[in-house]
Amino acid sequence: MFDWREWLHRLNYQPLLYFDHNATTPVAPAVRAAMAEALAGCYGNASSLHTLGRTSRGLVETARRQVAEGLHCPPERVFFTSGGTEGNNTVIKGVFAARGGGHLVTTQIEHESVLGACHQVEAMGGRVTFLPAHPDGRVRAADVRAALRPDTILVSVMHANNETGAIQPIGEIAAVTRAAGVPLHTDAVQSYGKIATDVDALGVEFLTLTAHKINGPKGAGALYWRGTTPFQPLIFGGDQERKQRAGTEGVHQLVGLGAAARLAAGRRESEFRRLAGLRRTLVTGIRRLHPDAVINEAEPGHQLPGTVNVSFPGKSGLRLLAGLDCHEIGVSIGSACTADRIEPSHVLLGMGIPEERALSTIRLSLGSTNNRLSVRFFLWALERVLRTDPPGFAYLDPHHLTAEVIRSPATFLVDLRFPHERLLAPSIPGARLWSPFGFERHIPEIPRDKRVILMCATGVLSTGSGYRLASSGHGDVRVVFGGYSAWRGLNPGLVERLAAEDAAGGRRPQE
Ligand SMILES: Cc1ncc(COP(=O)(O)O)c(C=O)c1O
Repeated sequence: MFDWREWLHRLNYQPLLYFDHNATTPVAPAVRAAMAEALAGCYGNASSLHTLGRTSRGLVETARRQVAEGLHCPPERVFFTSGGTEGNNTVIKGVFAARGGGHLVTTQIEHESVLGACHQVEAMGGRVTFLPAHPDGRVRAADVRAALRPDTILVSVMHANNETGAIQPIGEIAAVTRAAGVPLHTDAVQSYGKIATDVDALGVEFLTLTAHKINGPKGAGALYWRGTTPFQPLIFGGDQERKQRAGTEGVHQLVGLGAAARLAAGRRESEFRRLAGLRRTLVTGIRRLHPDAVINEAEPGHQLPGTVNVSFPGKSGLRLLAGLDCHEIGVSIGSACTADRIEPSHVLLGMGIPEERALSTIRLSLGSTNNRLSVRFFLWALERVLRTDPPGFAYLDPHHLTAEVIRSPATFLVDLRFPHERLLAPSIPGARLWSPFGFERHIPEIPRDKRVILMCATGVLSTGSGYRLASSGHGDVRVVFGGYSAWRGLNPGLVERLAAEDAAGGRRPQE
């Protein structure tokens, strides 16, 4: 088989083609430089009164100004947090605590950090309405209006969705909430730095953002607060952030956030145009390769340019992800692997997309690392991944990896989990414990007359190893679908039972 990765290495390219910028982004060189300078030169506590402390305070306040510029608000309305999750929790639980109860309105397509905070509000006796989105991925202001009650204390609707890129009608929703006298929060984690986020134009009381989606560091974010609706802080124990968020400021982190905000603001419009062009090429190419593909998107003008959410009816999203991973391409699926099944994306279900189609979906999110060449490579690889698997390769339903199969002399079982993953849960007795990296090294020692069963933690990395083994001519390769986590969920206690049997029979695990 043509070794795509080796070719890339020879050309000295970065080996990974990254199409997952909505998950996180690489830290930009200018941001890294600013952070390194702050780390090296300015270790003072921003609350200290001496010169070193005052210098750190200067850096923190510069970052606040840089973040505020993207929101068109006074810097003192910006409060630093550790990121989007903390910001969302602060607003939702903080307003509820300050009001001592009440009803909230949110949507079914929010990020887990909003949904999780709302579930906690429910556990504390609050009521929450979770509105569905429409098939275009957008909620409607009229639905928000209909959900309001006399005891509604907060409406929380995200600005742009992380899975579909659909931009929500925040201005229209704000008109509804303003008329009803209810404060509005928007999670702008996916929109800040990518489209306009002027807090007055949006009409919001609260807005949350994070650095790591805009080429800044992980663990730094901000909350915009208009200052009209009281909230109870999440973290107490210090006067920092005007008592709204205690804890010594991570000066270098905030410097990174500020530098990323500045960088994003400077190139926002040109990046928008550039990514929109790449998106067009990508969508046209996908439709050409697979005419049945369905792009789950909003109308033009209501869509983030960098996000392409696409369903391939009849295909499995997880298999497509694994196949693309074999070509060193990183994409994502909204689905989550739970104990015994793959859960479809709650966002797609919240748009009324049937479960089967949701499970056949992948998300591509474009950003600073993508260009025309990477899009062409992606389409080249996708064409191969959409074809059938190599002869000899198949997935194994985790139900079918029974004690008998494990014990069979015709089975050659390989545990491809990383050492840290093996620490979390024990290996199957008798399995080879190999690293998913350098798997090729072991191919000559694999018997050709046995069924090889490969199992990594999730089923993704073992797919790549399985493809390589099958492509080397092995005729019987099986990869456990969903990996060890799925298998263990179905067979709790089996590893321990096999180990006990081995101990009683004097057998020792293979290395
Ligand atoms: C829409 C949205 N909100 C919130 C978050 C959480 O942000 P953070 O990772 O900074 O906690 C994310 C991150 O994936 C997101 O996409």
